[in-house]
Amino acid sequence: MRIGILTGGGDCPGLNAVIRAVTKSALIHYQAEVIGFRDGFRGLVDNDTIPLHYETVSNILNVGGTILGSANRERFFGLKRDGTSSSNEGPDRTRDAAEVFRHHKLDRLVCIGGDGTLRIAHYLAKHADIPVIGVPKTIDNDVAKTDMTFGFDSAVTTVTEAIDKLHTTARSHHRVMVVEVMGRTAGWIALYGGVAGGGDILLLPEVPFSTEAICNKVLDRNRFGKRFSIVVAAEGAFPQPNDPLSGIEFHKSGGIGQHVTHEIEKRTGISSRVTVLGHLQRGGSPTPFDRILGTRYGYSATEAVIHSAPNVVICLNKGEMIPLPIEEVAGAPKLVPVDHPLLLAAQSVGSSIGI
Ligand code: F6P
Repeated sequence: MRIGILTGGGDCPGLNAVIRAVTKSALIHYQAEVIGFRDGFRGLVDNDTIPLHYETVSNILNVGGTILGSANRERFFGLKRDGTSSSNEGPDRTRDAAEVFRHHKLDRLVCIGGDGTLRIAHYLAKHADIPVIGVPKTIDNDVAKTDMTFGFDSAVTTVTEAIDKLHTTARSHHRVMVVEVMGRTAGWIALYGGVAGGGDILLLPEVPFSTEAICNKVLDRNRFGKRFSIVVAAEGAFPQPNDPLSGIEFHKSGGIGQHVTHEIEKRTGISSRVTVLGHLQRGGSPTPFDRILGTRYGYSATEAVIHSAPNVVICLNKGEMIPLPIEEVAGAPKLVPVDHPLLLAAQSVGSSIGI
């Protein structure tokens, strides 16, 4: 067996745990050969490889990022966001990908990535006849049919620590602290981080907010002697139609925190500050939970390489790792349902969701 492996999309803590587990289990149990492609699909189309030996993947379990390198928003296959091909997105390198895969006599390509990477993997399976095994990765936790992606717990840990620190300064200065977290289409980080950090107002892309409701919550807290508030806003959160902030141009990739902060201060007269956590959420060492989850995903990917039909994604389903057809997983991000138990729990302990 010869296995190729690449990491695509935004990096996240735990990627190296997966690379290590795929490689070690393939070497130890199946005497397979493993090669890595550098910088996601670029390494595949450019034939830029790194042989993965036992020593190459030693001492990387606790290291953040990816030893293979990664790239976001790659355009080698002229793909539109919905996965259909388009001729105006740069040269189509599908043929190069197929040739490099065959040149190395690979049996499977393990693609570790989020929704974008899985969509490209699906495309390559269909159009380049490359048998793929997907491993879902994203701090956003928004991969369909997958209870939890590795990297999410590390990101939530970073958010929680940040909120803990913001609490003490918010309380001292009687301020509103808005913390903007990642999550363009899904609010999982805002929800979990917000609940773990005891955020007072949680703004998710799934629940368009009302500026008035946010300000009322801040003022209510003040009336009850809580002279500070913590607002946790996903970068993709946006206002309801006809909201005072609805005229402003919103970018899914951030900036909302600044607008909300400004509006709160203007309307309540309470000093307000914003902290954008940005890529801090993707960096650093993975939590023990993510090291374990990454190891499970990696081991299961190798098992799928050896024992499953190709073109599947390893999904965590009620505690079990199961391979599901890639077309069922790629292309449909998992959003926070408005009746999610944690969203209800957050509100039951007094957090507002800005409506
Ligand atoms: O998908 C992971 C993610 O970190 C998102 O949460 C974020 O919106 C995006 O990537 C940022 O991408 P980039 O690093 O390309 O700015």
